[in-house]
Amino acid sequence: MRDQNLSTQHQNLQKAYKLSSPEDNINFYKEWADEYEQDFAIGMDYILPFQVASLFLKQKVSGPVLDIGAGTGLLGAEIRKQSEIEVHATDISAEMLLIAEKKRVYKNNFVGDLTKGLPVGDNSYNGVVSSGTFTHGHVGPEALFEVSRILSKDGLAVVSINSKHWESLGFDKAQKSLELSGSETSLTKVRIYGDNCKADARNDTAYLLMFTG
Ligand SMILES: C[S@@+](CC[C@H](N)C(=O)[O-])C[C@H]1O[C@@H](n2cnc3c(N)ncnc32)[C@H](O)[C@@H]1O
Repeated sequence: MRDQNLSTQHQNLQKAYKLSSPEDNINFYKEWADEYEQDFAIGMDYILPFQVASLFLKQKVSGPVLDIGAGTGLLGAEIRKQSEIEVHATDISAEMLLIAEKKRVYKNNFVGDLTKGLPVGDNSYNGVVSSGTFTHGHVGPEALFEVSRILSKDGLAVVSINSKHWESLGFDKAQKSLELSGSETSLTKVRIYGDNCKADARNDTAYLLMFTG
């Protein structure tokens, strides 16, 4: 049974990395939404949302905060467990957001495609957080500029990026462009999965890219 679970987790992760368009993501997460937490988050001891929440909360930013690619709301739930800050959620998958909504941790949530531009005005958020969304098959480096657009001038974003894809997808260049446009940035390397992960991906890491508005 354990091997069967490991194989399902591996297959879902492989499928997630092979997605190639926003429509692929909508279809994939529609099917996976109900099982996502049991299968992936609990099954693989997925700790990335907690890593993002921890780094973000250390910066003492005021709200509102937007969780981008919020999925089922693991990151928002962790932020609200540790603070009173106002958090909103957006995701391309209505089905994932429906599960997030049931956690009652987000003041507001809306469907949005980060690659096409979010239905949000410039400088609207003092904080932006994201875990697991900037990765292969999902959202690429150009979307960092959309994050920058909606971030207030004194705002701060903490966004995870799978380190395997950091250079190959051009996140390193995007970081430099953000700096050239006046943003201060920093990188912190963290583990994506905890000690209870038995899958091949157990030692995978992500960069937490922190940048100012
Ligand atoms: C691996 S899940 C991460 C969910 C959640 N942040 C977490 O850490 O559990 C990736 C999420 O990114 C969302 N996503 C993929 N492409 C997107 C896009 N273009 N715009 C907004 N969200 C997107 C998916 O629907 C999915 O909920």
